[in-house]
Amino acid sequence: MSAAKPVLVSGVKPTGDLHIGNYFGAMRQLVELSKTGRYRPLIFVADYHALNFVQDAQEMRRRTKELVVAYLAIGLDPKEVVLFKQSDVPTHTELCWIFDTLTTMPYLERAHAFKDAEAKNKEISVGTFNYPMLMAADILLYDAAVVPVGQDQKQHIEYARDTAEKFNRIYKEEVFALPEPYIMPDVAVVPGTDGRKMSKSYGNVIPLFASYDELVKRVMSIVTDSSGARPENVYALHKLVRSENELEKLYREHQGNYKALKELLIEDLERFLAPLRARYEELQDDPGIVEEILMEGKREARALSEAKMGTVRRVIGVTGAP
Ligand code: ADP
Ligand code: TRP
Repeated sequence: MSAAKPVLVSGVKPTGDLHIGNYFGAMRQLVELSKTGRYRPLIFVADYHALNFVQDAQEMRRRTKELVVAYLAIGLDPKEVVLFKQSDVPTHTELCWIFDTLTTMPYLERAHAFKDAEAKNKEISVGTFNYPMLMAADILLYDAAVVPVGQDQKQHIEYARDTAEKFNRIYKEEVFALPEPYIMPDVAVVPGTDGRKMSKSYGNVIPLFASYDELVKRVMSIVTDSSGARPENVYALHKLVRSENELEKLYREHQGNYKALKELLIEDLERFLAPLRARYEELQDDPGIVEEILMEGKREARALSEAKMGTVRRVIGVTGAP
């Protein structure tokens, strides 16, 4: 790995219950991007961000492990990517605090995520309010050049850029580099079995690592609409795993026969998902592999971020001779 390559940083929250919407909408692109060889990729489990939503120790551990195993199963190579847990690298929260001291409340009140939560009249934790500053720390600690995220996260990258500029201005030193967002190519929203956006909160998902029997059950339950020429909810999923050219022909041949089309979808999804599932199960049975990889990631991420924090501590005056 060449040190001169631009650094890519991305965090993923351990949300659990991964489904094919997560895979086709975000996970796959992140793995592909990290494989291009153009970047030095650092990918971490944003467990301290998730703490705003997950407040059960067992669940946190389970989801963290599931996420790491899932990324390995879909092809993330820990030899090429520094894969670590945010909570394993205390400089993230340390830098977050330093940013808190130069960020104003009105500025954070303008964040979309905060405004959405407020509009819903939710009780907002200080952690949720401050979410963009922890994220700025995640990114700026490593001099990230590119930060792959979904469209909804773009504002957070702007917050990181603003924060870097403000710090550099106040302390009159170019300590932080300005990161660029990399908005992942907008893969059409993957619909769930009821036609709405596939989401774990709607109970309409096809789990990424579903067993064959479960896959059959879920696909057979897809709601079909008989008004158009083809069952759109089936087709939208089908085109994720088979070319539209081939599908046009198949859907013409089986026009009106929704059962046959669903069976074809099951076959094609199974062909695509079976190797991922096999790898997922293999990894799950491998005691210690997740711990080992995270341990190595922790070592590397700590070394990288400590170097940056050494500069930050000096620049703000908490270290160094008076
Ligand atoms: P969920 O909606 O199931 O709670 P998350 O919000 O945890 O999923 O999403 C994690 C990532 O997966 C996000 O980057 C999001 O854009 C992507 N994603 C989730 N659901 C879909 C979907 N139905 N289609 C495309 N991308 C999705
Ligand atoms: N906020 C991001 C999300 O909800 C996760 C995240 C945390 C992140 N820290 C990050 C993404 C740093 C990119 C870089 O998806």
